[in-house]
Amino acid sequence: MIKLASSFAAIAALLPLVSAQQSVWGQCGGNGWTGPTTCVAGTVCQYSNPWYSQCLPSSSATGPVTSSPPPSSTVSSSSSVGGGGGGGGGATPTISGGLPGATGTQKLNTVAKSAGKTYFGTATDNSELSDSAYIAILNDGTMFGQITPANSMKWDATEPSRGSFTFTQGDQIANLAKSNGQLLRGHNCVWYNQLPSWVSSGGFNAATLSSIVTTHCSTVVGHYKGQTYAWDVINEPFNDDGTWRTDVFYNTLNTSYVPLALNAARTADPATKLYINDYNVEYAGAKSTALQNLVKSLKSAGTPLDGVGLQYHMISGSMPGGLASNIQAFTSLGVEVAITELDIRMTLPPTAAKYAQQKTDYQTVISACKSVTGCIGITIWDWTDKYSWVPSTFSGQGAACPWDATYLKKPAFDGIVAGLG
Ligand SMILES: *[C@@H]1O[C@H](CO)[C@@H](O)[C@H](O)[C@H]1NC(C)=O
Repeated sequence: MIKLASSFAAIAALLPLVSAQQSVWGQCGGNGWTGPTTCVAGTVCQYSNPWYSQCLPSSSATGPVTSSPPPSSTVSSSSSVGGGGGGGGGATPTISGGLPGATGTQKLNTVAKSAGKTYFGTATDNSELSDSAYIAILNDGTMFGQITPANSMKWDATEPSRGSFTFTQGDQIANLAKSNGQLLRGHNCVWYNQLPSWVSSGGFNAATLSSIVTTHCSTVVGHYKGQTYAWDVINEPFNDDGTWRTDVFYNTLNTSYVPLALNAARTADPATKLYINDYNVEYAGAKSTALQNLVKSLKSAGTPLDGVGLQYHMISGSMPGGLASNIQAFTSLGVEVAITELDIRMTLPPTAAKYAQQKTDYQTVISACKSVTGCIGITIWDWTDKYSWVPSTFSGQGAACPWDATYLKKPAFDGIVAGLG
């Protein structure tokens, strides 16, 4: 069974090209790019802009030959990058790889609440909960005021065969949140991936599939009634060009599965906030526009919808502009926004300069949320590189989380604090 750390992960993992090397002239990077990030022998991946890097023959490549943009200035030390405060004023500790770590000693949920946000949280997964050093940090509600189960509330985990529901794994995360006093985001109800074949290949007609969707959302959301802050009811409904994803739900029910699932969730738990969650909607473009149009049409039809989740699986050094205005475009439609799956990956191995860039990038994302009142909370897609989904999904990429694999805080931690400051 696929057990990926992220909803987004599955898309890339299912593409055979991901672990292959790109051929000459092919794309090898860029914001939102989920294909190969390394090039065949004799070629190099050259950055051209935040959205496009290309495999060029080694002889014709010029300038930096990575899929990330060149640093804006020559970085001689990490101390000048980022700015805006955020350090705790102590000496810079050394973390794994002999690299400079974070100086801050703040607690992120405490800082987020001081900044007017509802929570700062993290994804987690059942397989990580036997790691006592991991748990010691995860359980600190002043650091993480919210958790999201990375896998154990998805359709394949909760209804592996029709009408047969299993909640053991999901309950473990829900109970952990409860005992830690943390908010819980349910994730997720209707998604084309990690979807059992009895649904995707069942050949059901519209009436039967409607009943299956209603039963699934009612039962899963209802099981956690009173325990969640919010639910990602609809996950990743759009293609990157803003057209509807042609999964079994759309192909059978057209767009009607969206209000169907939202209404079922509202009935099952009137208090939880109902979200639509997607990626590559963090910046202005066709996909963000499509999601805004969906929000408008659901709102005008009176369909229950409370929030939009922007995932934010980003690439360090390739941060698009206009993040705050994009968030504002959603909140002005009468929904709240949450950053739901934040991580910022880099080409391995990390260096002090790459960590400094990543710190700046975390600060950029967090400050965008900070600046918009309706952006209510931030969830990182696990807090430690030890359990990040990135290296197994994007060949040669990783180090995307604010803590390194030995649980030491990276400069990115200071970037988060600075962004909330
Ligand atoms: C699907 O729904 C959309 C919007 O509700 C509608 O415009 C379109 O005609 C529908 N398509 C089909 C094939 O029914």
